[in-house]
Amino acid sequence: MSNSKLTRILFVCLGNICRSPAAHGVMEDVVAAHGMGDRVEIDSAGTYGGHAGDLPDPRMRTAASRRGYNLTHRARKFREEDFLQFDKIIVMDDMNYENVTRLAPERAYLSKVYRFVEFCRHHPEWSYVPDPYYEGREGFELVLDLLEDGCEGLMEEIKKESV
Ligand code: 4NP
Repeated sequence: MSNSKLTRILFVCLGNICRSPAAHGVMEDVVAAHGMGDRVEIDSAGTYGGHAGDLPDPRMRTAASRRGYNLTHRARKFREEDFLQFDKIIVMDDMNYENVTRLAPERAYLSKVYRFVEFCRHHPEWSYVPDPYYEGREGFELVLDLLEDGCEGLMEEIKKESV
């Protein structure tokens, strides 16, 4: 087949316990729904390593499970080698962008870094995915709304690139 390219995606936030593991779980479902499970690899990481080894925040697991997503990722810290291992490094906000790009081995690798909202089609008012950590339930629901929107947009981009 001509379109058997593998795309390796890494979602990045601060703690890797709220936004990026949720993006990871949503994208796994989107990829499966599009029959692209053998073409896309997904992982997530945080620029802060203080939650390494932890499951996602229980508030995010609860909000995600209400929408049918099972989040089982164990947090890990973003590392320089991720620039070599992934094709797209997708960050949630400007602070993540700064912290990730600072670790790029060479300038050329900066073209692998994207802001998640670039892939959203229905939330033009958001220029970043807001940190829900200090928010109530509605903060987690907003994050999931943005993630579902952007993961569909990302899937469309990947499909376009693989034909
Ligand atoms: P995340 O949320 O970056 O979406 O995983 C946060 C998780 C933990 C902390 C901040 C944000 N923290 O300060 O520990």
